[in-house]
Amino acid sequence: MADTSTSNLAKTTKPPLRIALAGLGTVGAGVIKLVEANAALIARRAGRPIHITVVSARDRGKDRGVDLSPYAWEDDMTGIAARDDVDVVVELVGGSDGPALTLARNAIRHGKALVTANKAMIAHHGMELAAAAETARVALRFEAAVAGGIPVIKGLREGAAANQIERVYGILNGTCNYILSTMEDTGRDFVEVLAEAQAMGYAEADPTFDIEGIDAAHKLSILSAIAFGAQIDFASVETTGISRILAADIAQADALGYCIRLIGMAEADAGPDGTPGLFQRVQPHLVPLDNLLAHVDGPTNAVVVEGNFSGRLLFQGPGAGDGPTASAVVADIIDIARGMDTGFEADMAFSIPVSGLEAMPPAPLGHRLGRAYIRFIVADRPGVLAEITAAMRDAGVSIESLIQKGRAGDAGAVMVAMVTHEVREAAVTEALRLLDGSPSLAAAPLVMQILGD
Ligand code: NAP
Ligand code: HSE
Repeated sequence: MADTSTSNLAKTTKPPLRIALAGLGTVGAGVIKLVEANAALIARRAGRPIHITVVSARDRGKDRGVDLSPYAWEDDMTGIAARDDVDVVVELVGGSDGPALTLARNAIRHGKALVTANKAMIAHHGMELAAAAETARVALRFEAAVAGGIPVIKGLREGAAANQIERVYGILNGTCNYILSTMEDTGRDFVEVLAEAQAMGYAEADPTFDIEGIDAAHKLSILSAIAFGAQIDFASVETTGISRILAADIAQADALGYCIRLIGMAEADAGPDGTPGLFQRVQPHLVPLDNLLAHVDGPTNAVVVEGNFSGRLLFQGPGAGDGPTASAVVADIIDIARGMDTGFEADMAFSIPVSGLEAMPPAPLGHRLGRAYIRFIVADRPGVLAEITAAMRDAGVSIESLIQKGRAGDAGAVMVAMVTHEVREAAVTEALRLLDGSPSLAAAPLVMQILGD
């Protein structure tokens, strides 16, 4: 129900903060609903009313479930930044480049604060936009870009600001988590569950970004920059998605005492020669059933931040969808409204000025120690298991358990799943290199790390 308490609004004497809203899809329509429903409360908390003055999208005639008649309409969204009746541009279009980036650059150039939920754009152009915002002395905010409704950027930038962050990891994509946990609970088919996640507004315009781990990698690269004071390096995130996971992997993981979750992980990691580097990886992991991340289901996200004085902090909540994402967008707008009284200096997008962010080289992966789940689809004939175990032996990989399941879908093919003892990742890579091209393998092996403490 709309919050229409005029007595509360009347107490706010400051002029309204005027918003241009570009993009009226899942999140944009959610922002309109939230701003209308909680108007008086928001005005009290922001110290001034928040007014949407102008909106823009592709199709003016589309029914979006919200009344657009109170707002001016602009067909050319990249032009809204130049309007005199706008203080803050809110970009909810999406895409790393194209109209979203043009609008973002225009907004900053015209001295407007910029709020965006666009992780792709921030992962690719965040350094440029943050530097431009610093020069123009305008705010750049993107809380909704990472983990939907969870205030994890605020948590890192402000709540954990006193800490050296040792590791950041968690579930960063609601669509993948919805797919994996629904497949786990119901045994339903991947494609069917993906379609459901799309219908609920969780997925990106191109769901490949979700299921191939790219969206989680965008988010991880943003978190890394804030956590480690590093320049964003999206290109160095080693990324594997969930599209190759079979129902049989989920069943096998369960039998072993694990569930499967797409995990993003970043850590400052000195290589074997002591050179400091930044480890960033998105990969499906086997998560022990007694780990708190194993209980994160549906579109929920969870981010663990390990600080040297705070210890382990857990941020958990809805990671996608209109309401939670709109909540994060409007929180940024409220912060900007408050900051109009307290000054710009407290408002560096990545917690420290862009010029102070380090260019951290990617950490080498091979020396990392861990246990791994490796799944093979192999020809069902004598000697195949011996061939696999010989490759493991020759590469120095010790096998903790190995199971051969009955026939897989393809005639004559069976699934072999193994869990290794703790081993350097380079050894697993070497074992798979030894098996590469073997006629015994009916498909490329799938490797998932096992999440440790
Ligand atoms: P969406 O439902 O696809 O909406 C996109 C909006 O942008 C639509 O209103 C569309 O106009 C407009 N648009 C797209 N391309 C355009 C173009 N070339 N010119 C003009 N307008 C254009 O997307 P969404 O889910 O709301 O996501 C918006 C942003 O929020 C994305 O950056 C996304 O990554 C991010 N985000 C989404 C979620 C979520 O749960 N959905 C969560 C966190 C962050 P029409 O409606 O007229 O076609
Ligand atoms: N497609 C994204 C997800 C939206 O599923 O997590 C939230 O960023």
